[in-house]
Amino acid sequence: MFASFKSIGAYVPEKKLTNLDLEQMVDTSDEWIKKRTGIETRHIADKNETTSDMAYEAAKIAIKRAGINKDEIDAIILATISPDYFCMPSTACLVADKLDIKGAMTFDISAACSGFVYSLAMAKSFIESNFKKNVLVVGAEKLSSITNYKDRSTCVIFGDGAGAAVISRTEDKNEAILDVSAASDGKYYDLLLTPGGGSKYPTSLKTLEKEMHYIKMAGNETFKIAVKTLTEDVVEILQKNNLSSKDVDKFIPHQANYRIIEYVRSKLKFPKEKTVLTVAKYGNTSSASIPMAINDAYENKNLKYGDLMLLDTFGGGLTWGSALVKFAMK
Ligand code: ACO
Repeated sequence: MFASFKSIGAYVPEKKLTNLDLEQMVDTSDEWIKKRTGIETRHIADKNETTSDMAYEAAKIAIKRAGINKDEIDAIILATISPDYFCMPSTACLVADKLDIKGAMTFDISAACSGFVYSLAMAKSFIESNFKKNVLVVGAEKLSSITNYKDRSTCVIFGDGAGAAVISRTEDKNEAILDVSAASDGKYYDLLLTPGGGSKYPTSLKTLEKEMHYIKMAGNETFKIAVKTLTEDVVEILQKNNLSSKDVDKFIPHQANYRIIEYVRSKLKFPKEKTVLTVAKYGNTSSASIPMAINDAYENKNLKYGDLMLLDTFGGGLTWGSALVKFAMK
């Protein structure tokens, strides 16, 4: 028995935040942002739109494209660092309610930008161990709700959106998720964090005054570790599966920064046409970035049934992971 990537769906909020808009907000320029990150626009959720609203929209599409009834979903794993509610209930529970799915196992995971790949690892194990049959895996973020629009080192990067996939049982090896790797190194916990509001610094006037509830990032240090880890991770998973970059149809990395993607792509010798790029239009949407990119490739007819996707991600924690996945949507 194998787990297969049965479908994809995504949701992008309507409102765009351009580099020119950001020039009016912080000391930055369109030129700097494009040159250092490759980002041109990012989409920002409406004030009343939540992470679960966006996740719901993406999930509806994924379930429809999977050709199953919503009641066949027996688990929902939702990756996010911007849940509707801090602590509880989980955003996955809210999505289940919006989809009118009763009785499924639902929970959120926190692995920052690696959340979608981590969720895939769990969905694969749940299915291969015969614990679950159809797992809805979602990456959804309203990063605008935890971004400080006075901090130019973070606000130019992040955007909002959601992506979802249905992972289902199959007997056909040609449709299988071949392998997933997921790892971390907590020594680097403070390179990317939201310091306030947890048990270490519970919410207080002081944490609010010190703006401790926003994402803080040591961008340059993170960058250096990201390029190294993302490259090593791909080499490892390809070697473990006796594959080379030539066997991969689509390289779909986390969309954090064009320079990071370009470094890894050229080092691993993936041709440009095999590399999926959405960072220019969506920015970095953390756990939503990879499923949004898969959806983009699919809707642009750049991804078809049977293609071998190589996913590669890196994020706060620090966490990282990669996956070799056959695209099994018919
Ligand atoms: N506009 C203009 N200048 C800026 C801006 C800006 N928006 N931001 C920083 N600068 C300045 C800095 O102040 C610095 O100025 P100085 O030389 O006078 O001190 C200069 O630009 C260079 O700053 P760096 O931080 O070295 O810039 P860098 O080229 O590293 O780019 C960036 C910054 C885009 C954040 C990059 O480091 C990056 O992409 N890092 C990795 C992000 C990542 O992968 N995160 C993990 C996933 S995210 C997650 O898990 C939620």
